[in-house]
Amino acid sequence: MKGHIHIIAGSDSGGGAGIQADIKTVTALGGYASTTVTALTAQNTTGVQNILDIPQDFILEQLKSVTSDFEIDAFKTGMLSNADIVTAVAEQLDAFDCPVVVDPVMVAKGGASLLEDAAVDALKNHLIPLSNLITPNIPEAEILTGKKIVTIDDMQSAVPDLLALGAENILLKGGHLEGDMIVDLLITPTQNHIFTSSRIHTKHTHGTGCTLASAIATSLAQEITMVDAVEKAREYVLEAIRQAPKIGSGHGPLNHMAVD
Ligand SMILES: Nc1ncnc2c1ncn2[C@@H]1O[C@H](COP(=O)(O)OP(=O)(O)OP(=O)(O)O)[C@@H](O)[C@H]1O
Ligand SMILES: [Mg+2]
Repeated sequence: MKGHIHIIAGSDSGGGAGIQADIKTVTALGGYASTTVTALTAQNTTGVQNILDIPQDFILEQLKSVTSDFEIDAFKTGMLSNADIVTAVAEQLDAFDCPVVVDPVMVAKGGASLLEDAAVDALKNHLIPLSNLITPNIPEAEILTGKKIVTIDDMQSAVPDLLALGAENILLKGGHLEGDMIVDLLITPTQNHIFTSSRIHTKHTHGTGCTLASAIATSLAQEITMVDAVEKAREYVLEAIRQAPKIGSGHGPLNHMAVD
């Protein structure tokens, strides 16, 4: 086991996304996962039925319990629900030197809001500036930049605005654009990389974003470079989609234990 990844995110009772996807991913890729749960969702493959935020004090207690006992090699944040939680988590993470991967989760695949509107400013002002990598999907990048993104050129045009938010690296995920090819853009301080893959035509993509970000965080904790970490994470997600168990009547989960 190599690399301790501390995940700060919400629970998905359906097991396909959120903390559950994060733990499975980190474990499958050989890391150790510990967690700070920010919210509970009553959720399945058809959508999010209800959300219960964990009180902020208790969120911070979880974080302090873990970080006071273990050395953390990378943090990964997911659903943070509201502005107070975003700000409180950012204040804590500021004290650490290890990589922080921020998946700026805003809307669930089924359309449910996972972040209050006011929290977007907190994300921009407090958490994104201290992150090593942010992994917005297209709708999240549109909210973060205030610009519409419908083409790959639009994705390229959004890069300066995303960089201005202060993250060291940006992975803009193109899964939400139309087309048979999926393009993800990685912007690092020294180079830009375009990753492409054929779209797998399936409805079983619940938790792809959480899984990708956790896979990247695991590699960073294992001292793999950013470009290689993204490459490896994309391959892992693709195989996990290909071998999805096809369960549930909506967007089903991935197979986190899938191997080539
Ligand atoms: N149908 C698909 N076929 C192949 N790759 C996919 C597919 N859907 C998503 N991906 C890949 O999964 C990763 C996550 O991208 P996506 O845009 O789905 O994130 P997301 O919207 O944040 O996901 P989530 O809804 O789980 O939060 C990307 O690397 C993308 O290329
Ligand atoms: Mg996502």
